[in-house]
Amino acid sequence: MKTFIIGISGVTNGGKTTLAKNLQKHLPNCCVISQDDFFKPESEIEIDENGFLQYDVLEALNMEKMMSTISSWIESPSHSLVSTDQGNAEEIPILIIEGFLLFNYKPLDTIWNRSYFLTIPYEECKKRRSTRVYKPPDPPGYFDGHVWPMYLKHRREMEDITWEIVYLDGTKSEEELFSQVYEDLRQELAKRKY
Ligand SMILES: Nc1ncnc2c1ncn2[C@@H]1O[C@H](COP(=O)(O)OP(=O)(O)OP(=O)(O)O)[C@@H](O)[C@H]1O
Ligand SMILES: [Mg+2]
Repeated sequence: MKTFIIGISGVTNGGKTTLAKNLQKHLPNCCVISQDDFFKPESEIEIDENGFLQYDVLEALNMEKMMSTISSWIESPSHSLVSTDQGNAEEIPILIIEGFLLFNYKPLDTIWNRSYFLTIPYEECKKRRSTRVYKPPDPPGYFDGHVWPMYLKHRREMEDITWEIVYLDGTKSEEELFSQVYEDLRQELAKRKY
């Protein structure tokens, strides 16, 4: 069966989950897989010399489990996970995968039909992150000591990427981002004449 797989990545608090949920509401036959659901338990997370838990790295994630969830969807797209009920048999099944470390994970490289990457500036990111409560909560200095440096590292690694990534300005409103991506997807889907 033909499918259409969308990647939504970007910086922490860039609005990945919000955008994915907004798209899912308006796309027929659409499922979402969130990378955040695949973090290993805290006991398996490495700790650096400053005592910071190393959450913002691929090693903190059970990527094998995430891959098998994706494979299950590909094998049987129409009746898995939490699909919206607007779908009908003629609509191509769409999968949105959203998370902060998608385009640095080689086994997924060939899967993307369209790739988006949300960015926001340092100050905005730090501000948004400070309003959230993670499990476990960010200790003092965590953003500057782990989160932001890891993000910069992952951005550098992404310089080698050969396929097209559509960069999105995460400071735009939720509605603007939704409209921009929805319109882009409409065109992409039409191009493929599914
Ligand atoms: N376009 C936007 N403009 C302003 N604030 C936004 C926007 N989109 C999301 N937010 C807010 O920013 C915060 C992060 O949003 P969201 O959870 O969607 O981001 P994320 O990239 O999934 O973050 P995480 O790193 O936790 O996975 C939330 O408080 C959300 O309400
Ligand atoms: Mg999220």
